[in-house]
Amino acid sequence: MQGIGKAFFVSALVYGVIGILLGLHMAMSKNHGQMPTHAHVLVIGWLSFAVFGLFYSAHGHAVPRLLAAAHFWLAQISLAALVVGLYLLYSGQTQYEPVAAISSLGYATSFLIFVAVALRAMHQRSD
Ligand code: HEM
Ligand code: HEM
Repeated sequence: MQGIGKAFFVSALVYGVIGILLGLHMAMSKNHGQMPTHAHVLVIGWLSFAVFGLFYSAHGHAVPRLLAAAHFWLAQISLAALVVGLYLLYSGQTQYEPVAAISSLGYATSFLIFVAVALRAMHQRSD
């Protein structure tokens, strides 16, 4: 693994550890108030970033560097902000809702970039 594929996969491992620790904390404290934070850290951070990592490891050569970098950085910055925003929001600090809202739109945009990346890679000849 190298480049953006490796960077996505390493970040997925980091989010996996954070999400599981948050899950254990919720279970042990019997306070499931951070369930949406836990769920999104794990399903976006661990699962979808791991898929992006494997995708770029297999098909990264077919993706222009600028497009891959735009996807990577927008996804990373948006998810980091989303996690902080969700954590604060579900801690009762509702004034941080705009952080969650804006970072959600950032993540959605990064996913649209990935759709373009994936469609482009699928239409490349594989021989
Ligand atoms: C040691 C590991 C884990 C612990 C202790 C843990 C704990 C929890 C707890 C306490 C809840 C709240 C349940 C509720 O109130 O209904 C929850 C929900 C959830 N967890 Fe975990 N979790 C763990 C690992 C994972 C992993 C690895 C994933 C995903 C890859 C995951 C995804 C989810 C999701 C999506 C929900 C929301 C479920 C729903 O909407 O009903 N969890 N988890
Ligand atoms: C960034 C855009 C996204 C937004 C704004 C968003 C928003 C939401 C909201 C409002 C809920 C309900 C939370 C609650 O009331 O408990 C939810 C739940 C959930 N979302 Fe997302 N979501 C996004 C992306 C995703 C993605 C990409 C995935 C999967 C890869 C995902 C997986 C889930 C799961 C498993 C739940 C159920 C867990 C729970 O109830 O907390 N979401 N999402």
